[in-house]
Amino acid sequence: MIVTTKQLFEQAYGKYALGAYNINNAEQTMGLFRGNVQSQAPFIIQISKGARSYTNKLMLEAMIRTADEIFPESVFAVHLDHGDEETCYDCIESGFYSSVMIDASSLPFEENVATTKRVVERAHAKGVSVEAELGQLGGVEEDISVREDQVHLTDPEQAAEFIRRTGCDSLACAIGTSHGAFKFSGSQSLHFEVVEAIQKLVPGFPLVLHGSSSVPQDEVERINAAGGALKGAKGVDATQYLPAAKLGVCKINIDTDGRLVWTRVHREYFRDHPEVFDFRPIGKVFMEEYARFIASRNELLSSAGRLAEVRAALSK
Ligand code: G3H
Ligand code: 13P
Ligand code: ZN
Repeated sequence: MIVTTKQLFEQAYGKYALGAYNINNAEQTMGLFRGNVQSQAPFIIQISKGARSYTNKLMLEAMIRTADEIFPESVFAVHLDHGDEETCYDCIESGFYSSVMIDASSLPFEENVATTKRVVERAHAKGVSVEAELGQLGGVEEDISVREDQVHLTDPEQAAEFIRRTGCDSLACAIGTSHGAFKFSGSQSLHFEVVEAIQKLVPGFPLVLHGSSSVPQDEVERINAAGGALKGAKGVDATQYLPAAKLGVCKINIDTDGRLVWTRVHREYFRDHPEVFDFRPIGKVFMEEYARFIASRNELLSSAGRLAEVRAALSK
């Protein structure tokens, strides 16, 4: 069942975080739904601009609608990840998306405010909610690359002003994470005091964490042992998801970890089965492993086992 992002945030706030998982193809979609139903978790499907053009945006929508039929128990929202203004409008007008992210975080503050405000007006007129971003994460997202020396943590006072002036529904804040598999060169340094300070200024407002993959070291070792070259890959400590959720982080974005599952499964399979050239046997292994991975993340987010309570609340 497709629901609004707002409905899911209302249920999760202060108790757990929704896993926000990106999809690109059918195998990932099947694994995602299986994993969420197996772990009885509500979730958010994220579609990036790159994913929309990988096959075709309509293909993704059709896959999601079909998955909804195959898994009638599922409860989820559909979200545009890191949208520019034009892509936000396209998603808003499509009538399919529960929420969009306008990522104008690379622009100066006033331009970010103005851009986000325009998107909020168009989105709210259609019942779509808006995630905005303030501050700069490191790493690469879509066509924007942010060097480590350009990373800016979100300023809490500015965040409160931004939320008030734009009318956005949730805010992605930079607290030291970055996109991709190489998040920290030394030890992890997440700035939860930024989240706490924003919550004090804007109590009850849903916050979002990007760049939250944990880059499991056993996964990296297996990839490297099977011919990969991911030296020094490092992620967020996944035991921090729940403390973040308790501070008002309602949505935790995880994409890279899923790509690592895909890479490990395929590298090991072809190393061990050099005679195989059929994509179905490996596709089956991937769907199963991806489902297992999604269920394990939901346990850490504490969204696992929440489906019954969410359904009950939504039917009131
Ligand atoms: O933050 C970006 C997400 O990981 C999506 O990546 O733009 O390559 O689809 P993508
Ligand atoms: P990761 O690269 O840590 O998975 O972050 C994903 C993300 O923030 C998608 O918007
Ligand atoms: Zn992101």
